[in-house]
Amino acid sequence: MQYKVELLTGIRPTGGLTIANYLGAVAPIVKLQDQGVFPVVFVADLHAITDNEPAAVRQYIHEVVADYIALGIDPKRAKIYLQSDIAGEVTTLTALLARLISVAELLRVPTLKDKLKRNARPETANALLLLYPVMMAADILLNRAKKVPVGEDQLAHMEVTRLLARRFNKRYGEIFPIPQALQVKSLRILSLKGEGKMSKTNPMGAIFLTDDMETVAKKIKAAETAFEGVMSEKLKSHILIAKGLAKTESECEEVDAIIRAHKEGKPVMAQFKEVLTRIVQNFLQEFQAKRAEVIRNPSYIASILEEGAKMARENAIETLNEVKKVLLN
Ligand code: TRP
Repeated sequence: MQYKVELLTGIRPTGGLTIANYLGAVAPIVKLQDQGVFPVVFVADLHAITDNEPAAVRQYIHEVVADYIALGIDPKRAKIYLQSDIAGEVTTLTALLARLISVAELLRVPTLKDKLKRNARPETANALLLLYPVMMAADILLNRAKKVPVGEDQLAHMEVTRLLARRFNKRYGEIFPIPQALQVKSLRILSLKGEGKMSKTNPMGAIFLTDDMETVAKKIKAAETAFEGVMSEKLKSHILIAKGLAKTESECEEVDAIIRAHKEGKPVMAQFKEVLTRIVQNFLQEFQAKRAEVIRNPSYIASILEEGAKMARENAIETLNEVKKVLLN
């Protein structure tokens, strides 16, 4: 079969987004959309319930759709659907693909290993967690997607997807076009202070899209920077934030000038923080106003999801029919 969807991406509705989520995952898709690629974005609620209660997930579905639209995914130039609106097709293909991979192979997927190390044990982890990459393959193959933009953490899942597609095709005929991982340049956005990447698990080091202006100012004021003349990892990350969120060329130049002075050993970090605060606040103000507009009409998001579901169902049924022809007839 032919590719059907040019670009597919799934988002787990598990909590509020941070500016790191925007810069790393959303901005690259918006950019591709603006270059004329037609993205299909879906809310991966079935993936989210592998390690979250369904009631908790449900509450975030509309939130995340509103966020994506307010961040620039344009329903006229993209489609958005809810994975569970095609739950029957997704779970059927998941089951049919799962026969083509061994339990041992799934246990070797590094993301699962990580999860088991951090917050679950094989004895108690639920079995759906094991099928996580297979279900991701089902999403991608049902849509016959050509490119899937992924960060580094999802590359292993893409390899499982490609492996399953190749195994299926070899045994049952060329049904699935092989999808490609489109590796988006991974941005190392660090926590504003302390260890690790910016993440919602460390809220004081993270800027949420919902943060008010005062909170933003406070968090940036408390951020770690660098001694005069030193380019620390933290400072590099702050610069990525400033340049990623800046709306104008002149704001970028302002940042460049400050960083030049910093490298020459001048004490400019307070000034840098002021500029960073202003840039982040401008970005968030615009985002929050747009988001308020998006959620003002409660049926707007519902109608977008409905339209998306129609397309997703069509693609999925078409693909699954071909699968059933070779496998179940
Ligand atoms: N696993 C992805 C994540 O954790 C979400 C996802 C589910 C996905 N199915 C997908 C991403 C299909 C791309 C394509 O972020």
